[in-house]
Amino acid sequence: MLTKTTARPGPQGQAIIARDSAIMTGALTPRYPFVIERGSGSRVWDVDGNEYVDFAAGIAVTSTGHCHPKVVQAITEQAQKFIHIAGTDYYYDVQVRLAEKLAEIAPFDEPAKVFLTNSGTEAVEGAIKVARWYTERKHIIAFYGAFHGRTLGALSLTASKVIQRDGFFPLLPGVHHVPYNNPYRCMHGRREEDCREHCICADYIEDVLFKRVVPADSVAAIIFEPIQGEGGYLVPDKRFVQQLRQICDAHGILLIADEIQTGIGRTGKWWAVEHHGVQPDIVCSAKGLASGMPLGAVIARSRVMSWPPGAHGSTFGGNPISCAAALATLELVESGYMQNAAEQGQYIKDALEEMKTVHPALKHGRVDGLGLMVGAELVLDEKRTPAKDLRNRVERIALENGLLILGCGENTLRFCPALMIERETVQQGLELFDLSLSQAEREAGLL
Ligand SMILES: Cc1ncc(COP(=O)(O)O)c(C=O)c1O
Repeated sequence: MLTKTTARPGPQGQAIIARDSAIMTGALTPRYPFVIERGSGSRVWDVDGNEYVDFAAGIAVTSTGHCHPKVVQAITEQAQKFIHIAGTDYYYDVQVRLAEKLAEIAPFDEPAKVFLTNSGTEAVEGAIKVARWYTERKHIIAFYGAFHGRTLGALSLTASKVIQRDGFFPLLPGVHHVPYNNPYRCMHGRREEDCREHCICADYIEDVLFKRVVPADSVAAIIFEPIQGEGGYLVPDKRFVQQLRQICDAHGILLIADEIQTGIGRTGKWWAVEHHGVQPDIVCSAKGLASGMPLGAVIARSRVMSWPPGAHGSTFGGNPISCAAALATLELVESGYMQNAAEQGQYIKDALEEMKTVHPALKHGRVDGLGLMVGAELVLDEKRTPAKDLRNRVERIALENGLLILGCGENTLRFCPALMIERETVQQGLELFDLSLSQAEREAGLL
């Protein structure tokens, strides 16, 4: 049983939310009424003393759980030595050690070079720049449904929700969006079995884009998420990803894997591209990299990241405390949590498949994922009508029941807890999900 002292949210939480609404920008997507007091592992407590199971992990960020003692120790020890010196001007060992480790685990058989950033978006910006610099080409191909960030360069690649782009045009010129492999909802309107047999999304790049829109030899890079995250936790067919690699090889285009949400062990391997058997040229990392300390990385083949001194920089990028947290994180992920992510993720997927027999909204829905990146798409009927309102209600009811769970895509719920989550907490979270979904289905007249 979870500790429950007041309604969720309680009076103290409500007071903070009211003050927040009065002073903070209204630009953020509507938030969930949860005000954290503290966290430990995969559990969090609000300011009114209520306990929750955390299936959200701060949007797949707190990879080692909240406040892992080893991460806290690394942060504390580094903070007692020095907090900042500017890696753009001076050197420090903890940054070098982290870059060496990232180069060691990079998903390509070539030496790597590393650029450290503060965020995922900044890593994407770095990737765009290095790709343009190396290829001396201007165009970039990205995918419908993609989320790569919110600054103007990264936003130009993002094609997730129009509200994210509306009001900010013109964006970066030379960005071309194409369909992403999704047999469950093929953008070309093909049947699921045909799409699984042979997806034509990658063909579209050769057959349409390169013939009608932009010459292949003007394209610097194809950027893709190895599992589309904000787009709905979509796992593409590995043949689609392999075809992207072939297109890149045929035309001297760089393949950029945005592993910001998928990377650092979340899928049971260091990088999700490893599941697809593909080696990218550039990898963007962030989110789980430093267990919640702000840090991102652009990891590229050494010959690609050969830009000259002064070409790029970042005052806070590679902050020493973030680097120390990242080193502790990578050690923990390597020595067990990555394996745990694979096991607990499979357990969640199996449990959701089983729930299809009792939940009408799951029955014809899509349950998909790798490791602890599992999505469950809620639908209203056999025709797969997206159950968007129902999904939103489940999130809200789950919160009231003591479960933090986030949506993604139009009608998907994502299960992305910390990689250290124990089986007992997984089960408790799934029970709360089951209960919350039943409540929402009853309200909607589906049960
Ligand atoms: C795949 C992907 N790329 C980029 C970003 C942007 O990262 P950040 O919010 O750290 O700037 C996100 C964030 O959700 C993401 O999921």
